[in-house]
Amino acid sequence: MTPTVAPYPLARSRRLRRTPWLRDMVAENRLHVADLIWPIFVRAGDGVEEPIAAMPGVARMSLDRAVAAARQAAGLGIRCMALFPYTDVALKTPGAEEAWNPDNLVNRATAAIKSAVPDMGIMLDVALDPYNSDGHDGIMRNGVVVNDETLDCLVKQALVQAEAGADILGPSDMMDGRIGAIRRALEAEGRQDVAIMSYAAKYASAFYGPFRDAVGAGALLKGDKKTYQMDPANSDEALREVARDIAEGADMVMVKPGMPYLDICSRVKRQFGVPTFAYQVSGEYAMIMAAAQNGWLDGDRAMVESLLAFKRAGCDGVLTYFAPRIAKWLQA
Ligand code: PBG
Repeated sequence: MTPTVAPYPLARSRRLRRTPWLRDMVAENRLHVADLIWPIFVRAGDGVEEPIAAMPGVARMSLDRAVAAARQAAGLGIRCMALFPYTDVALKTPGAEEAWNPDNLVNRATAAIKSAVPDMGIMLDVALDPYNSDGHDGIMRNGVVVNDETLDCLVKQALVQAEAGADILGPSDMMDGRIGAIRRALEAEGRQDVAIMSYAAKYASAFYGPFRDAVGAGALLKGDKKTYQMDPANSDEALREVARDIAEGADMVMVKPGMPYLDICSRVKRQFGVPTFAYQVSGEYAMIMAAAQNGWLDGDRAMVESLLAFKRAGCDGVLTYFAPRIAKWLQA
């Protein structure tokens, strides 16, 4: 579309920028709390909140604290949370069996939050890295992350998560064929209403560093994830990944990380018109928070601007550690 613009001085762009109400009236995009998914980290214990060094304001919470956080979030209008486990290293194995333990941390947290705040939506990651002693998203055999064997594990993990009450499953592992395998299993087990938000275009990114520490996978990780996560150089490939995940039964797709990949968000939304999300990942949060804490950026303004960028790129919503803070900002 070629915009029609009168020549100066008939058109003066500054006329509609003159006052806050005019600017707001013509704003093309708006942040809304209903678009947010708040990722949190859960851990064992009682009454524990353990700060994560590289994520100021974010802590690993024991289940009682996670339930309290869910209540607070609901009070702020937040409708959905994503739960990630900090798994005791003693429970991490090469086979990642803890991933499909019905009583593992995220499954217990899901049940606890659902019983305390029944309307809170719960999203759970499907991937083995919090449970795998190698720190990888799949099973390792002779130094290789094996695809098809991993699929069987992911299916078992997905089914117990559905059983625990998860509303949305987020396969974040980037194995081939995982969406189809999980979708078929959910159908076969009468879990047809569980939604899948696939981490469809997930890049092998440096920006996940603080998250890996938060779930205790960083120090364990052998090598990198480049044989399954995408090459940051690629963009057409992201469209193929998204097309395939939709064809296999994903209800929503995600681009991850967010800010460095806004071009991908935009292409995906334009081409497919499906519910499209971005994950503003741990490293993106860390950058803004670190600069703000040093007095180098205005943290609130940087937060708002970064989140608006996702809306402008066409995203329907965003997973962000800023969720409670932006929710408060929106209420103010
Ligand atoms: C696990 C997973 C990761 C993130 C979400 N799920 C890390 C990774 O793939 O190594 C990153 C989230 C963040 O950085 O905030 N598969």
